[in-house]
Amino acid sequence: MPDARAALGRLTGTTAVVTGASRGIGLAIARQLHETGARVAMIARTTAALRAEAESLGARALPVTCDLANAAAVADAVAAITDAFGGAPDVLVNNAGAFALTAVDAIAPEDFTAALDINLVAPFRLIHAFLPSMKARRAGHIVTIGSVADRAIFPGNASYAPSKYGARALHEVLRLETRGSGVRATLVSPGQVDTPLWDEVDPDNRAGFTPRAQMLRPEAVAEAVLYALTQPAEVNVDELRLSRS
Ligand SMILES: NC(=O)c1ccc[n+]([C@@H]2O[C@H](COP(=O)([O-])OP(=O)(O)OC[C@H]3O[C@@H](n4cnc5c(N)ncnc54)[C@H](OP(=O)(O)O)[C@@H]3O)[C@@H](O)[C@H]2O)c1
Repeated sequence: MPDARAALGRLTGTTAVVTGASRGIGLAIARQLHETGARVAMIARTTAALRAEAESLGARALPVTCDLANAAAVADAVAAITDAFGGAPDVLVNNAGAFALTAVDAIAPEDFTAALDINLVAPFRLIHAFLPSMKARRAGHIVTIGSVADRAIFPGNASYAPSKYGARALHEVLRLETRGSGVRATLVSPGQVDTPLWDEVDPDNRAGFTPRAQMLRPEAVAEAVLYALTQPAEVNVDELRLSRS
């Protein structure tokens, strides 16, 4: 288990973008990176929650309201972040995600494409926007938050599994294409994590689901991200898979 305290200050002077940072895993990652010294642009749709969380972190946190499913909004967010940081961030954490339990013959086609838009297309858009600058300065780190469902199939994951398998594939292409470029790429894939993502499913009162108390904590995922980010520059952590011990 990495010791987050040992990493204190190691990201001082760096900039990071974390998507889905208003709650859950993204908020835990934003907190860890901020505590470790980074300036953090926090992306989500819900302005009030985002502002409150960014304010509670402090002056180095920048709330950026953006619906990642909207290409024009993503372009605006990229411009605002580039302006605020004076260039592309040092770290991009593609974390925001949509999860729904729906069977293949029950999901509406527009819900299927909406899941792909948030879980796969939006990460691609952000990578596409920031990677050229990262490559030009021969430094940068792109972290993808995957899932146990990016390698394992569960019934009801009609849109989640294809989008998460796709996100892992995008990470793996990126990893190969950036090898030797100074840009690093890491996939962090957790099992179930106790976040608001589960509120609608209500696993504590549903047979066959892991109770929330037996899930991972969002902070454990954030510590895994921090571990990958704080390795020596010549070390790429390709993939971390987290499950309850
Ligand atoms: N929780 C788990 O068991 C688990 C397990 C494995 C992997 N994961 C993955 O971990 C990531 C985070 O999950 P979580 O559990 O922390 O989820 P969560 O608690 O539901 O939080 C999702 C975050 O994403 C943001 N978001 C959702 N749609 C967005 C959009 N269209 N545009 C911008 N922001 C959007 C939300 O903010 P707004 O609603 O304000 O936009 C929120 O900040 C996801 O990729 C998920 O697939 C989760």
